[in-house]
Parts: sequence; structure tokens; C-alpha cells
Amino acid sequence: MHTVYGGEKTPQELYDHLSKLDSDYTLEACETYADWIREIKTLKQERNAVVLAHNYQRPEIFEVADFIGDSLELARAAKKVSADMIVFCGVHFMAETAKVVNPERTVLLPDLRAGCSLSESITAEALADRKAELRKAYPDLQVVCYVNTTADVKAESDVCCTSANALQVVEALDSQHILFVPDENLARYVQSQTAKTILSWEGNCYVHHQITPEHILSVRRNLPQVKILVHPECREDVIQLADAVLSTSAMMRYAKESPAQEFLIVTECGLSDRLLLEVPEKKFYKSCKLCAFMKMITLDGVLESLRHRRYEISLPEDVRVGAERSLERMLQLSA
Ligand code: 13P
Ligand code: SF4
Repeated sequence: MHTVYGGEKTPQELYDHLSKLDSDYTLEACETYADWIREIKTLKQERNAVVLAHNYQRPEIFEVADFIGDSLELARAAKKVSADMIVFCGVHFMAETAKVVNPERTVLLPDLRAGCSLSESITAEALADRKAELRKAYPDLQVVCYVNTTADVKAESDVCCTSANALQVVEALDSQHILFVPDENLARYVQSQTAKTILSWEGNCYVHHQITPEHILSVRRNLPQVKILVHPECREDVIQLADAVLSTSAMMRYAKESPAQEFLIVTECGLSDRLLLEVPEKKFYKSCKLCAFMKMITLDGVLESLRHRRYEISLPEDVRVGAERSLERMLQLSA
């Protein structure tokens, strides 16, 4: 396996590494990045901090990350942290999840604008109303919430899930009727794989929802040999064109282990960048959709976050305990 992140890269080494991706990475920019990376590493030691990063983060962020993964891996990694501080390079609900399982540690999110269209599509109050209404018709109803939700929505749910274990969690529940919130696309995908009845919510990821079958078909027409890997937050008509439907880290594993040489990565572009850097012997085509929320996190933002201990995530204890129950049940059902 290639060692691509970490270590102390000179500005030239950083430039050689990052400029494989695009021309925005100039040598001058990499000189600044190399200084920031050195400073971040020193501050991490002084503060006894770790950096957890989602797969969609900018590649220069990976240089300071102690762990990179999908939502499920990050939730598991957050539970194992023994440092005093976690700097979360991802979006708000992910940092909240880290806080839920680490009440006594400081969890920082470098930029509070790092939200998520899915988590913003539902509130705990609206969920409580819908649940009460549906339970009149379906007394066995259980609520499964996607991890892309706020802690109070998790607390209002019976169990949480991620894109890596949604079907496994639904299948493990002893109810026929499931209210699956808030991603309508993921709910539809789970419905296509299970005999249970899935009731959904009107929410979607604005990044994945923009991708259309025409995007995929035009690539397939020109490159019939490519394997098409699709995230389950995509629309149903896009999912139908996939060779495999996978979470972000499962896409990484599939691309590394498959004998195929060429792949279309149908998810946020950060993942294709990670693959281009980590698997240089294979070819990756991007769906080229950026998540503006994920990209709010920048290297200088991480530096400022560590310098000024900002922005600290805090949760009311009853909400934290409720969300923890939902997350723990997920980890137990998908162990
Ligand atoms: P993964 O859990 O597959 O990394 O997905 C998280 C996410 O936000 C996808 O848009
Ligand atoms: Fe939310 Fe979509 Fe961005 Fe993931 S890619 S954080 S689901 S808006």
C-alpha cells in the first residue's frame, strides 16, 4: 500500500503529491500549506488533540488527520479516542456524533457553516409528530434515522444507521413497519432490498440528488468498460445504473480490491481525489459534484480551531444520552 498522507512533506513533495489532482495546487500554495501542516502538528501535540476526517475532505486536510473514514468508521473511531481533544474535519452532525460518545472530551468543528442539507430537512419536533401519527396505523412502527441528522433527531429515533449499514439495521429490527428518515433516496434503496415496509421522509442530499442518469449513461457510452460505483444517497434512476451501491469507504475498498482498472465514482468529488492519490495504478472518473458544506473546512481553519479552541460542540445531557442510545443500538445491530 502506498503511504500518501502524514509524515513531514517538504513544499516540493506536497506540490508533487497534490498537483496530481488539479492546477489550483501551485508550489506557492504548497509552501504555505507545509507551514500550516507543521504548526497544526505541533499544536496537536501541545493540546493532546486528534484530527478525525471524513473521506470528502480536502486532500491537504488528510495530511494532518489521525483517522480518515466514512460515517460509520468515524463513529467507531470517535468511541476509541483517548486524547483530550477531537478536531472534527467533516460536517456538524459528525462532530456532534463524536461529542455524543465523548461527553468529557472537547470536540471542535473548525467552521460552523459546515452543515448538511439532509440533517437540515428534519427536526425532532416534526419527527415526534409524524411518529405519533403513524403509530396509530402501525403500532409496531420503529424509527430508523440516518446518521446525517442532529443529535435531537437521533434521540427521537429508535436506532440510527449509516450508508454502510442501513439495510443491516432495518433487517435486524423486529418490526415490519419502519419510518426511515430523512433521506428519501436511501429509504427507497433500502425498500428495494427488503420485504419490510419502509415509510420515508422528504429529504435528500443536494449533492447526490443533482446527479442524473444522463451523466452516467454518457460515461458508459464512451467507456463501456468502467465499473460504476454509486452512493445510496443518489436518486433511484441513478442507482439502477450502478455496478455496485456502496458507502464512501466501501467504494475505496471495492476499487482497491476489484480486478477492474477503471471506475466512475458517483459521489462527492473528494472521494475520487482520495482514490486518485491512493490508487495511482487505476483510472478514476469523477461525477464532479462538490459538497460546499464539507469544503467549508480548510487547513487554515483547522489551525485557527486548534489555536483558539473553536468551535466547541456542546449538547444538553438529555439529548446526548438519547442520541447515544440510538447510536449504540446501531453499533450493536451492525457489529
Ligand atoms: P458515508 O457514510 O458513505 O461516508 O456518507 C456520508 C455522507 O455525508 C455522504 O454524503
Ligand atoms: Fe450532507 Fe450531502 Fe454534504 Fe453528505 S454530501 S454532508 S449528505 S450535503
